[in-house]
Amino acid sequence: MTGSTPGTPRTLEDVDGWFGRPDQRLFTWFLERQDRLDQRGDLLELGTYLGRSAVLIGRHVRADERLTVCDLFGSPAPDEANDREVTRCYPGLTRADFERTYLAFHDRPPVVVQAPTSVISDYLRPGRCRFAHVDASHLYEHMAADLAVARSALAPEGIVVCDGHRAVHAPGAAAAVWTALDSGGLRPICATPSKLYGTWGDPDAVRDELLAFLAGADDLVHETCRIAEYDVPFLRARDEEPDGLSAEDAAEVRDAVQRAVTAEVAAGRAVEHAEAAEQRAEELAEVAAAAEIEAAQTIGRAVKAEERAERAEELATAEAARAAAAEERAAAAEERTATADTRIAAAEELAATAEERAAAADARAVAAEERAAAAEAEREALVRARTESETSLRQAAERTAEAEAEAKLQEEGRELAETALRAATEQHARLTSEAGRLRDNLDAARREVIRLKGQLRRTRMQLRAIRNSRSFRMGRALTATPRAMRRMTGGS
Ligand SMILES: C[S@@+](CC[C@H](N)C(=O)[O-])C[C@H]1O[C@@H](n2cnc3c(N)ncnc32)[C@H](O)[C@@H]1O
Repeated sequence: MTGSTPGTPRTLEDVDGWFGRPDQRLFTWFLERQDRLDQRGDLLELGTYLGRSAVLIGRHVRADERLTVCDLFGSPAPDEANDREVTRCYPGLTRADFERTYLAFHDRPPVVVQAPTSVISDYLRPGRCRFAHVDASHLYEHMAADLAVARSALAPEGIVVCDGHRAVHAPGAAAAVWTALDSGGLRPICATPSKLYGTWGDPDAVRDELLAFLAGADDLVHETCRIAEYDVPFLRARDEEPDGLSAEDAAEVRDAVQRAVTAEVAAGRAVEHAEAAEQRAEELAEVAAAAEIEAAQTIGRAVKAEERAERAEELATAEAARAAAAEERAAAAEERTATADTRIAAAEELAATAEERAAAADARAVAAEERAAAAEAEREALVRARTESETSLRQAAERTAEAEAEAKLQEEGRELAETALRAATEQHARLTSEAGRLRDNLDAARREVIRLKGQLRRTRMQLRAIRNSRSFRMGRALTATPRAMRRMTGGS
C-alpha cells in the first residue's frame, strides 16, 4: 500500500491502495483495446476501497455505459470471517472517502452499491459487462461467489481481473481463482504478481495482441508459464523484482533474506551444537542407563545381602536366645555345681571333722585303754596286794597268835587295803564302763566316717557325672560362644 496524501488527490499514486503500476498498465491496455475494438458494455468492480483502481477504470466509461462499484465501505460484513477481514485490513473506510476521491478525478460518479457483493447481481444486467475487477473479500467462499457473479455479468469476450491469485496472506482467494481456472471454465490471458487476467471467451487473440504490446513495452518484462493448455505470460514492471516488489522493497527483502540466511547458518550451527549436545546427552543417558542398571544390580545384591543379613540376624537372635537359654542352664548347672561343691566341701569338712573326732575318739580310746590298762594293772597290783595281804593276813593270822597288837594293825591295814581295793574296783568298773562307752563312740565315729566317705564318694561320682554330662558341656560351650562372638565382633 502506498502512503495517502492529505488533501485532494491528483494522481493514482496519491490514492491509498494496492493497485500497482503493471496492473495499471494492463488495465489501461485491456480497456483501450476494448475501445479500439469498440467493445461496448458496463464495467464492474467488486471491492473498491478508496478507489485507486476504480478511478482508472472510470477513465474508460463511455456515456452510455456505467461503472458499478460494490463495497461494504464500513457497513457490516455478512459473516464473522469477512467481518474480521475488513476490520483488520480496511479500518475506518467510508463511502464518502471513496466518493470524494473518485470525484477528484471524474465528473460523473459510478453506481455505488454499499453492500456485500452477494447482492450485486440485483444491480447488474447479465451478460452486459465487458470488464470486471474482482477484488473484494479474499476469503474462498466470497471470492468464488464473486467470480461466479462476474462470469454471469460478463459478455462472452468480457475480461475478468482476479486479485490474489498468488496472495500468500489470502490463500482462499488463490484457491478460488485457480479453481475457476481448473474447473470453472475461466481461461487465463496473463498475470502479474497481484492479479490474473482471464476470460470465459477466447483468450488467444487477446493474448497474442498483448504479447505484441509487451514486446514494445520497455517498462514491462514477462516470462511465459505453461498452465494446462495455455502459455500464460507473467509480467512485471522492469524495475520490480520478479515477485512484484519495488527495487527498494526488493533490497529490503534481500537484506531480510541475507539476515534469514545468516540466521539459518546460526541456526544450523545451533542445530549442530544441539545435535552434538543431543549425542552427548544420549551418551550420558547410556552411561546413566548403565549406571542405573549397575545401581539396580547393586541394589539387588544389597537387598539380597540385606535379606541374608536379616536371616543371619534372625538366626543370630535365635542362636543368642538359645545361647542365653543355654547360659541360663549353664548358670543353673554352675549354681548346682557350686551347691554340690559347697555340699562336697561341707561333706569333706564333715568327714574331716568326723575323722578328727574319730582320731580324737581313737586317742581318747587309747587313753582310756591305757587308763583301763593302768587300772587293770593297778587292780592286778591291788589283787596281788590283796593276795599278798591275804597271804600276809594268813601269815598274820598264822602269826596272830604271834602278835595281837600287830594283828590289830594288820587288821587296820587290811581294812585300808579293802577300802583301797573297793575304790580300785569301783575305779576299775568305772574305767571299764568309760572304755566301753568310748569304744562305742569310736565305733559310731568310724561308722559315721565310713558313711560320710561313702556319701562323699557318691557325691563326687554325681559331680563327675554332671561334669561329664552333654548338657553341662553344651552349657560350657554356649557360655563360651557368646564370649567368643563378642571377642570376634569386638562388640560389647
Ligand atoms: C483490496 S480492497 C480493494 C482495493 C481496490 N480495488 C484498489 O485497487 O484500490 C478490498 C475491498 O473490498 C471490500 N470488501 C470486503 N469484503 C466485502 C464484501 N463482502 N462485499 C463488498 N465489499 C467487500 C473492502 O471494504 C475493501 O474496500
